[in-house]
Amino acid sequence: MPTAPKPDWVLRNANVIDGTGAPARVADIAITDDRITAVGTLTDVTGASEVDVAGRVAAPGFIDVHTHDDRAVLSDPTMSCKVSQGVTTVVTGNCGISLAPLAPAEPPPPPADLIGDRPEHYFARFAHYLDALDREPSAVNVVAQIGHSTLRMGIMDELDRAATPSEIAKMRARLEDSLEAGAVGMSTGLFYPPANAAPTDEVAELAAALAPAGAIHSTHMRDETEHVLESLDETFEIGRRARVPVVISHHKCAGAPNHGRTRESLPKIDAARTHQPVALDVYPYVAGSTVLNPRRMMNASRVIVTWSKAHPEAAGRDLSEIAAGWGCSAAAAAERLQPAGAIYFIMDEADVRRVMAYPHAMIGSDGLPHDSHPHPRLWGTFPRVLGHYVREVGLFPLEEAVRRMTGLSAAQFGLTDRGVLRAGAYADLVVFDPRTIADRSTWEAPTRPATGIDLVMVNGRTVWQAGAGTGARPGRALRLQQLGPKGRDREVAA
Ligand code: ZN
Ligand code: CU
Repeated sequence: MPTAPKPDWVLRNANVIDGTGAPARVADIAITDDRITAVGTLTDVTGASEVDVAGRVAAPGFIDVHTHDDRAVLSDPTMSCKVSQGVTTVVTGNCGISLAPLAPAEPPPPPADLIGDRPEHYFARFAHYLDALDREPSAVNVVAQIGHSTLRMGIMDELDRAATPSEIAKMRARLEDSLEAGAVGMSTGLFYPPANAAPTDEVAELAAALAPAGAIHSTHMRDETEHVLESLDETFEIGRRARVPVVISHHKCAGAPNHGRTRESLPKIDAARTHQPVALDVYPYVAGSTVLNPRRMMNASRVIVTWSKAHPEAAGRDLSEIAAGWGCSAAAAAERLQPAGAIYFIMDEADVRRVMAYPHAMIGSDGLPHDSHPHPRLWGTFPRVLGHYVREVGLFPLEEAVRRMTGLSAAQFGLTDRGVLRAGAYADLVVFDPRTIADRSTWEAPTRPATGIDLVMVNGRTVWQAGAGTGARPGRALRLQQLGPKGRDREVAA
């Protein structure tokens, strides 16, 4: 009998948490090339490299389902902010904004400036964006969506109105070209000025192009405050009319008068789920972050400036302090800081915990990688769930937390052979210490890497080890056409 080839790696005595929610079990893991080849008691096998990880958890690499890493994966391809947390795949193109398809003549308006503030950051066709990732890969796998606001910016001369039928037809042609290139879905940011004037019909008509391709629709809803329930209805309607699965991004009930209302929103999502596919994601913080926007400010108990083109020195400072120093109102200070971004304290801890504890909620960071003083979620989301919310608060078992970062997310986006730790799956994995894993990024020091992450592999290659990045860039741009049955051919109820 020929001897089986020697695995590249054997990880010994791991506490395997496989991403399905199944209880942890002790096993060895063999890895050859980009795949996990065996999980079990592998006493007869010797790897080219062997690591004893006794006492550590080995889990599928985390999938960050809500990111704005569209440009970061090209401009900062080692992606330390994510691989330091154990993230091995990022979903880009959220909240209505993507770097393609768009060929802007001038810098695009907020919030697109969060991902690309110069015309040369953009790609006229989606295929060009994915090709750029093939040529210059990053450390992580990329799953890319098309932004509805990006489509609008490319076709419409004014954004403060509904698109005409001929503009919708043009947007749809670009959307279809992007899906053909491999985009996995279309996101909206109906809250934001570039899309706020878009009626439900416009989105539903565009979203109808998603279903035949097997793509999904995600949304930063029109309203996450007083009218959050109406926004849920609008989201469900778009999903039903377009016959497409919907993902509610960063679900929250923002503003003090709405605190506690996840007690209404989650049962409403449950009711919708009985007749259509609805998913959601959440980040583990009571503050959000986006461009400095007067509508968001109104609902916030505290605002921290994350960047300002007019006053770069304001980054990291409270807006109220800046206003006091200038002897003006917060609104006037916000005006003087533009263009700018901010962190907004708008949520209630009990709501955040309720959404996180909801069994269908995926974890997504919503981190903003180009901000000078970013929200700590960029560097801390996943370790914060596993350290603070699992170990310290006891919100849910470790196996369940891992499932919400891996197996559930992979199933939702149709990522075949990822998000699970088993023989045959891609070797995207993270080894961490469940006793010490913790986020270290704070409001004051937002870019401190997490602790407790020992080893992170993407497609079988080590990207993070012993507290430092390796510089390897084994990530792939994953195309819609490569997705499995849960993705492209997934059944959608009427
Ligand atoms: Zn958003
Ligand atoms: Cu977002």
